Amino acid sequence: MTPKLRIASAVAACCLALVSSAPADPIIVESPAGVLTLTFDVQDGVPMYRVSRGPDAVIAPSRLGFQLRGGRSLCDGLKVITTKSDSNDTTWVQPWGEEKEIRDRHRELRVELGEIEGGERRLNIIFRVFDDGIGFRYEIPKQAGLDKIEIDDELTQFAMTGDHQTWWVPAFEHNRYEYAYSKTPLHDVRKVHTPFTMATEDGLYLSIHEAALTDFASMALWRKDGLTLEADLVPWSDGIKVKGTAPMVSPWRTVQVADSPGGLIESHLILNLNEPSEIHDTSWIKPGKYVGIWWEMHLGISTWGSGPKHGATTKNTKRYIDFAADNGFDGVLVEGWNVGWDGDWMANADKFSFTKPYPDYDLQELAEYAREKGVTLIGHHETAGGIDSYERQMEDAFALLEKLGVRAVKTGYVAHGQSIKRIDENGKEQREWHHGQYMVRHYRKVVECAARHHVMLDVHEPIKDTGIRRTWPNMMTREGACGQEFNAWGGEKRNKPNHTTILPFTRLLAGPMDFTPGIFDVLFEKYNGDNRVSTTVAKQLALYVVLYSPLQMAADLPENYLARPEPFQFIKDVPTDWKITKVLNGEIGEYVTIARQDRNSNNWYVGSITNEKSRDFDIALDFLAEGHSYKAQIYHDGEGADWKTNPLPVTIDKKLVTSSDSLRIKLAPGGGTAIRLEQID
Ligand code: NOJ
Ligand code: CA
Repeated sequence: MTPKLRIASAVAACCLALVSSAPADPIIVESPAGVLTLTFDVQDGVPMYRVSRGPDAVIAPSRLGFQLRGGRSLCDGLKVITTKSDSNDTTWVQPWGEEKEIRDRHRELRVELGEIEGGERRLNIIFRVFDDGIGFRYEIPKQAGLDKIEIDDELTQFAMTGDHQTWWVPAFEHNRYEYAYSKTPLHDVRKVHTPFTMATEDGLYLSIHEAALTDFASMALWRKDGLTLEADLVPWSDGIKVKGTAPMVSPWRTVQVADSPGGLIESHLILNLNEPSEIHDTSWIKPGKYVGIWWEMHLGISTWGSGPKHGATTKNTKRYIDFAADNGFDGVLVEGWNVGWDGDWMANADKFSFTKPYPDYDLQELAEYAREKGVTLIGHHETAGGIDSYERQMEDAFALLEKLGVRAVKTGYVAHGQSIKRIDENGKEQREWHHGQYMVRHYRKVVECAARHHVMLDVHEPIKDTGIRRTWPNMMTREGACGQEFNAWGGEKRNKPNHTTILPFTRLLAGPMDFTPGIFDVLFEKYNGDNRVSTTVAKQLALYVVLYSPLQMAADLPENYLARPEPFQFIKDVPTDWKITKVLNGEIGEYVTIARQDRNSNNWYVGSITNEKSRDFDIALDFLAEGHSYKAQIYHDGEGADWKTNPLPVTIDKKLVTSSDSLRIKLAPGGGTAIRLEQID
């Protein structure tokens, strides 16, 4: 297929530009089905792009480029030297995921820019235009007088065309990505993290993010004034944003564009802009469900540190392993197993050992015990931001996991923003952000080390997901937003009923999240009277389908599951690896319904959740295979359920359905419905 690029005029303009700086004609790239149009041009030496969807402008003319330390700019005085177009229409298979087969259909434009006045400066920009969004990345090629690159500023703009409704968490704050989402008009935004989601008056839904964040600073967005957002790279402690040598590539800057909120979720743009897998034999990488010695610490029943309430004892761990084996779980997470938790662990990161268990935790015996029962232990590496110390121990720590047959580890980086300690080249202590280049490098080192040792990762306090699970499929899931634990901590911190109706359209556009759903004792009055989970129990079930994660925790205490075997059956049944995902309906912050087909059977699962408002609607079951019957098991809010006053009742209805039926969904305030559709003929 010949890409539909109108470049003839650009080539002519390019020759013209050799003799003068007359404006080059725009280069227009249409997406494969003609849904989106990207236009590139150079105006007065400044590279610019814009994007439209049919008659609607999505991104108004926006500048591109960098300012480097030492005075060299890669943003002005430039002209087009050459352009090259390409196109792609291929389908690739995810080893695990929310969708098995992913189509990558796009058109590409590569623009090589050079200095108008005979100088040496060079900058290349590669655009990819899909029907569901665009991506572009910079390439700083080798060029005279530029061995070492120090980026002072990335000048990329995203000029929005209206005062859109937006959903965001603030950037450059101490609690990393862990904030309640704000919903404001664009003019009230200042510095925000990505994915940054917007709804336009014309009914479009947009999300700005980045893909393949590798050896670069992460990109926050800054609305300095007007309706224009600018890339705001997270700096090193010395103020430089990115350090490297030429040639250097940036991550992809991405703008997803959909005509429904669910369209953002169904888009695979971020994954498509990542490189294929570096791991060739992925047979050891297995999605699954886990339980763990975790919620009991957050409730204050047991402690991470040693002493009479120590949670990670051999005896307690065996209890969890037995529970996991009896109920079909794949893993048991054990936090607080290793020396270092005593005292103020957040202030003593260097004291953590990642190989030495507490004396009342028999690691060898437990690994063996778990293996015999067909369960894996899930290790835990809480670094508290002590990167030097962790990097020194990392190789041994992962070798130990591998030797013991521990197939997954949860890592953690509890430390305030900009408080990650780094010892610089002169032996001086510096403080870094979680999201700067230093930590982007660190998080990737861990992924690669884990891969060498056949260990899957679940990262808390992570760098945001930018789709690298395609390249490193052992990078399973991560936190990176307020998870369930905020409900244990309570008060102002507690997640509001609308929180999980925002996450799928914001944080989860980046990739899977280890939210840790499944709390049945949502009031946990026995442990902490002031705190609670602000949902019904049925909504906790629905979250297993709505919030995608290949490793999904059943977070509550075993006794709370054993006390309610009927709703627990849904958690036992629900898979974590899918063939197809469809968003059936949704409004950001209001409600959402998602259907997913199990990758290993013909069964479908549906999760539907609402914010604090009750609602009811019909869903058509036309996603089911025609000509087959399905047994529907519907776990819904029981009579009189309400997250605030009566969160516990779950009623289970059973009926036979086919693809021509529809189901009435009734959601209580703060409620949800979880459905299993088992194909029976
Ligand atoms: C924060 C993590 O999100 C949480 O899951 C973990 O229990 C604590 N850190 C301790 O590592
Ligand atoms: Ca956390």
